Amino acid sequence: MCGIVGAVAERNITPILLEGLKRLEYRGYDSAGVALYTNDDKLERMRRPGKVSELELALTEEPLLGRLGIAHTRWATHGAPCERNAHPHFSGDLAVVHNGIIENHEALRDQLKALGYVFTSDTDTEVIAHLLNHKLKDLADLTVALKATVKELHGAYGLAVISADQPDRLVAARSGSPLVIGLGMGENFLASDQLALRQVTDRFMYLEEGDIAEIRRESVQIWDVNGQSVERESVQYRDGAEAADKGEFRHFMLKEIHEQPAVVQRTLEGRLSQNQVLVQAFGPQAAELFAKVRNVQIVACGTSYHAGMVARYWLEELAGIPCQVEVASEFRYRKVVVQPDTLFVTISQSGETADTLAALRNAKELGFLASLAICNVGISSLVRESDLTLLTQAGREIGVASTKAFTTQLVGLLLLTLSLGQVRGTLAEGVEATLVEELRRLPARLGEALAMDSTVEKIAELFAEKNHTLFLGRGAQFPVAMEGALKLKEISYIHAEAYPAGELKHGPLALVDNDMPVVTVAPNNELLEKLKSNLQEVRARGGELIVFADEKAGMTNGEGTHVVHMPHIHDILSPILYTIPLQLLSYYVAVLKGTDVDQPRNLAKSVTVE
Ligand code: F6R
Repeated sequence: MCGIVGAVAERNITPILLEGLKRLEYRGYDSAGVALYTNDDKLERMRRPGKVSELELALTEEPLLGRLGIAHTRWATHGAPCERNAHPHFSGDLAVVHNGIIENHEALRDQLKALGYVFTSDTDTEVIAHLLNHKLKDLADLTVALKATVKELHGAYGLAVISADQPDRLVAARSGSPLVIGLGMGENFLASDQLALRQVTDRFMYLEEGDIAEIRRESVQIWDVNGQSVERESVQYRDGAEAADKGEFRHFMLKEIHEQPAVVQRTLEGRLSQNQVLVQAFGPQAAELFAKVRNVQIVACGTSYHAGMVARYWLEELAGIPCQVEVASEFRYRKVVVQPDTLFVTISQSGETADTLAALRNAKELGFLASLAICNVGISSLVRESDLTLLTQAGREIGVASTKAFTTQLVGLLLLTLSLGQVRGTLAEGVEATLVEELRRLPARLGEALAMDSTVEKIAELFAEKNHTLFLGRGAQFPVAMEGALKLKEISYIHAEAYPAGELKHGPLALVDNDMPVVTVAPNNELLEKLKSNLQEVRARGGELIVFADEKAGMTNGEGTHVVHMPHIHDILSPILYTIPLQLLSYYVAVLKGTDVDQPRNLAKSVTVE
C-alpha cells in the first residue's frame, strides 16, 4: 500500500507534496516523509511517525523548500511504524520512496552489508536505495542505474527516486504497484494515484507493468519492460466531483452511508429499460459472451468478497447459474479446476487490490470464458485489464470502512444476475420486470432505512462496554451478517464474528452469555421461522438480541430482545437494505468508543500489497 508523490518544477513544491500526501492518506497513515533537493543544493528530508498532519506540523516549524522532491505516506509492512522506518530512505546522495514489497530483501541486504553499506532501518525499501547507490558507482547515470537495479528486485514495487548528483530529474519504476505521471506546463509530477495530483493537473500518463520513467521539467521519457523506449497515451481527467468534503457530517463514513440512496440511483442510471436490464451496460460484447456462460467464478477481498457471496445466492436462485466465490488471496495460489464456459468476475472498490489483480492475471492463463470487473474506479488496473466492466457509481469513498461501495456493488451484481438470466432465458416469468421495478424503488427504501439513524444510535449504547459480538443471518443475509461483523471489528475494534444462524448450535452457542450481544437481520422470508428458533436458543442462554426485522415479521421487543423494524422490501433486495442499519450500528459504536472512524488503526483504504 502506501502513497507516493513526486514533483520536478521551477517553484517550491513542498505544499504540492504535502497536499498530495493528504489525498493519499487512504493508502496508509503510519508515518509520512518528504525528501527535497533544497534551494541550497542539498538533499534533505523530514519524516514523522503518524499522520501527514504530524509531518506538516514539523515542516511548519522547520520549513524545507525545493523544486525537486519525493514524498511518501506509509502503511508498515517491514519494520514498525516509526521515524527510522519512514520513507524516503537515503543512500549517499539519493533518496527513494517505495510502495510494495521486495521479497528478496534479506539476500540483498546481506550482499550490500558485505559491500560495506550500513542499514539504518528495518525496511525492505532501504535495500533499493543502497543497491541503486552501488549500481551508480559503475553506471553513473541515475536512469540507467535504476534500470539495472530493478532487474535484481523480486516482488512488487512502485518506486520514485531523486539524487542530489542529478537534480534535473525524478526517476520511477512500476512493477505490481501503480504509478501515474501528472503532466504540467514546465513542470511534471508523479504519484501512486492521480487523485494526489488533481490539484496541479488534469493530464495524466499511466505507467504500465515493467515501465521505467525519467521525468524532467520539460520532458517525460518511458521505457517498457523490454527496455524499449515507448510512448504512453496521455489522458485528460475531467470529473470534478473528487473534492473531499465532509459537509454537514462528522465523519466521511457517516456521509458515505447517507449517500447510498443517491449513488445507488446513479449506479442504476442508463442501465434499465422499462422492464429489463440493458445488457450492453456491461460492454458491447456482453450479450454474445453472456449467452455462453454456464458457470460464474467470483473473486474479491474483504467487503467486496461479501458482495460476491450475496451474488452467489442471486445467480443460483434467479438465473440458475452455478457460482463459486472465493477470496482472492486463496484463489490466486490454489490449483483451480475451471469448468467450461465460466465467467470470471472480480469485484473491487479501488480496482487496485493486489490479490484481486493477481487473481485476474492468473485467471487469464486458466481458460476462463472472459473476465468481468465490477469496480468503482474507471481508470483502475482491474478495469483496464478486464474484458468487460460494470462501473459502480459510488463516487470517491474516503472512509476506510467500505459502505457505499458495497451497496452499489450489490446493485451491479443484481444487474449482472438479471442480464445473465435474460440472455440465457433462465429467469422465471415476470421476475425481471418485478425486480427492475423494485430496483427503481430501492433508493427510496434506503432513504427510509437511513431515517432510522437515531434509533440505531441508541442501540449502539448496548455495545460500548462489550468485547465480543456475534452476527447471525440465514441465506443471502449470512454474507450481510459477515459484512456487519467486519464493519464492527474494523472501526470499533470489538471482536465480531458472523455465523449462518443454523450453525449456532454446532459450536458458537457455547460463547453466548449475557456479555455477548447477538445481532441478527431478519427479513420476512421463508427462513424466518427457522431464524426465530435460533434466536430462542440465544435467549435461553441469556444472550442479548438485537434484531433488525421486517415490520411484517411479527417480532417484538421483550426482555433482552431489541427489535428494530425495517421497511418491507422484496426479499431479493433485502441484503442491500439490511446492510444499512449494520453500517450505522458499527459507526455509532465506534463513535462511542472514540476510535478514529475514518482511519482505523492498522488499516488502509487500498490494499496494494499482498
Ligand atoms: C472493509 C474494506 C476492505 C475492502 C478490501 C477490498 O471495509 O474496505 O475489506 O473491501 O480491502 O478492497 P477493494 O474493494 O478495493 O478491492
